[in-house]
Amino acid sequence: MPLSPPPQADPIQSVVAAVLASRKYRAIAPELVASIAAGELAKGRSHKAAVKATKNQLHQSAAVYQTGRMAYDQWLSALKQVWPDVDGREPLLRGLMAEHTSTNERLPFLDEFYSRIFALLPPIHSVLDIACGLNPLSLPWMPLASQATYHAVDIFSDQIAFLNNFFRVANMSGKAETRNVLTDCPPEPVDLALILKTIPCLEQMDKSAGSRLLGSIRARHLVVSFPIRSLGGRQKGMADTYAAHFTALIADWDVQVTRLDFANELVFVLQRQPQ
Ligand SMILES: C[S@@+](CC[C@H](N)C(=O)[O-])C[C@H]1O[C@@H](n2cnc3c(N)ncnc32)[C@H](O)[C@@H]1O
Repeated sequence: MPLSPPPQADPIQSVVAAVLASRKYRAIAPELVASIAAGELAKGRSHKAAVKATKNQLHQSAAVYQTGRMAYDQWLSALKQVWPDVDGREPLLRGLMAEHTSTNERLPFLDEFYSRIFALLPPIHSVLDIACGLNPLSLPWMPLASQATYHAVDIFSDQIAFLNNFFRVANMSGKAETRNVLTDCPPEPVDLALILKTIPCLEQMDKSAGSRLLGSIRARHLVVSFPIRSLGGRQKGMADTYAAHFTALIADWDVQVTRLDFANELVFVLQRQPQ
């Protein structure tokens, strides 16, 4: 009996396997890698070109913000060692947040950042931090209601495991999950959604991502921010461009919007009226 030919490897999964084989991308949610790979192959690219383009996309929208090798095991040991010493916590957390460009940029005005935002809000009992990076480490700076819950999502499974360990060490009622928010944003209603410096990243992958994400979130209040300096430090009118873009995204929303300007971040605090 003639042998049947070996099954052809799935071209999308071949690209995914090649991308995840590299140390820099291995912890990224495979379904996000697969969806980018599928888009690149659909453009008619070869396996090699699709691997390159997928890595490039993941670099631009996620890996570029990680300033080096993220030493999560060492960081966890440091957290466990320092946490009992209340005075040691803040310097350690600041040091860890410096390892992700987005939180690092916020460090010079971190106290003011959360005090100005929360001054506009009623007591917050639940937070959803979308595409969180290392921002959950700034939880001690957020004046939340006692017993508040914190739910954080991002695409790096190793970072998510570290954040869950942080919540445990700090005895905070937090939960972190690996999720691609382009297709799988948590649906639970919350008091506050944080969408910090994330819409431009998501819109690099999918132009309609910002409006779809905002439309899918069930939060009474939202804090949405945009970077107003590029990673290279240039300003290029980013504040005006993003302000206009965001105004268009929420054009038909019935919300009160307050704009807060920080040195390198433009913030919008959205408060829905009680029903
Ligand atoms: C500019 S950083 C902002 C991080 C954090 N929100 C902050 O402001 O400190 C963008 C974040 O989006 C995450 N990200 C990119 N694409 C994502 C996706 N499809 N789903 C979830 N997170 C994503 C990246 O891993 C990165 O942590």
